[in-house]
Amino acid sequence: MKFLATIAAALLLVVQTACAYSSDYKFAKLSKALAETPTKPLLLDSKTYNLYTESPRNYSLFVVLTAAGSEFNCNPCKLFGDELDLITDAYAKRGPKGQAFFGSLDFAAGREVFHKLKVTSVPFVFHFPPTEGPNKRVIKEDYEVYDLNRAGVKAEDFAYWIVVKRPIDLKIYGTYALVGFGAVATIALLHQQIIAFVYDKKISQMLSLSAIVIFCSGYMWNQIRGPAFVGNDNGKPQLFAPGFQNQYVLESQLVGLIC
Ligand SMILES: *[C@@H]1O[C@H](CO)[C@@H](O)[C@H](O)[C@H]1NC(C)=O
Repeated sequence: MKFLATIAAALLLVVQTACAYSSDYKFAKLSKALAETPTKPLLLDSKTYNLYTESPRNYSLFVVLTAAGSEFNCNPCKLFGDELDLITDAYAKRGPKGQAFFGSLDFAAGREVFHKLKVTSVPFVFHFPPTEGPNKRVIKEDYEVYDLNRAGVKAEDFAYWIVVKRPIDLKIYGTYALVGFGAVATIALLHQQIIAFVYDKKISQMLSLSAIVIFCSGYMWNQIRGPAFVGNDNGKPQLFAPGFQNQYVLESQLVGLIC
């Protein structure tokens, strides 16, 4: 019985592999779809999402899962949608041709995909890097997620993320090696002074007090949620965020200073 099951599984795998469309086929289809609205993100549905995101790919695909329907009242979706339009437009005019595509999948058109990926909050941004061709990149999962909360919703932030998604070059490793060597050498030369510094009571008191003040004033919250530096109240700067669940960076710095 087990033997039969193995054979069935192997057959299924062969069939699936045979059914995976080639990069060429998908590239041609994507290019054709893009030609209709060159400066707008492609509007995907479950079927086209599955087709374009499955490997092999010789292109990068950025997909935004969103919910534009008025029943969801999703403001960030609209905000990020506008930024995505900006990026797509800029890429169409100035980017390298045919290396990256931008698409958006609305909840109404892609329920199956939302359920499959267990997406519970939108907008949600994926990048599927090429799995073959000159820009091929191997990553652990098939895709990577752009963290909007951390990296920001602005087109510039997103563009920065897109640009820095290039393979790591050796220069960076060289710099790391140099810095590491410098650190080791410093420790070797100055270890006595460093130990005296660490054990000095006044210095450790000062350091722990500063740490307490910094963390009490909400530094960690800022790191996690990335709030605005200062608020905007009809054109006037607003120092203190309204409500109990919010704060600005400047506000936490002021609180720290008072402490
Ligand atoms: C991907 O394949 C298509 C079709 O063969 C080709 O025209 C395109 O230039 C390829 N893209 C890259 C980035 O190599």
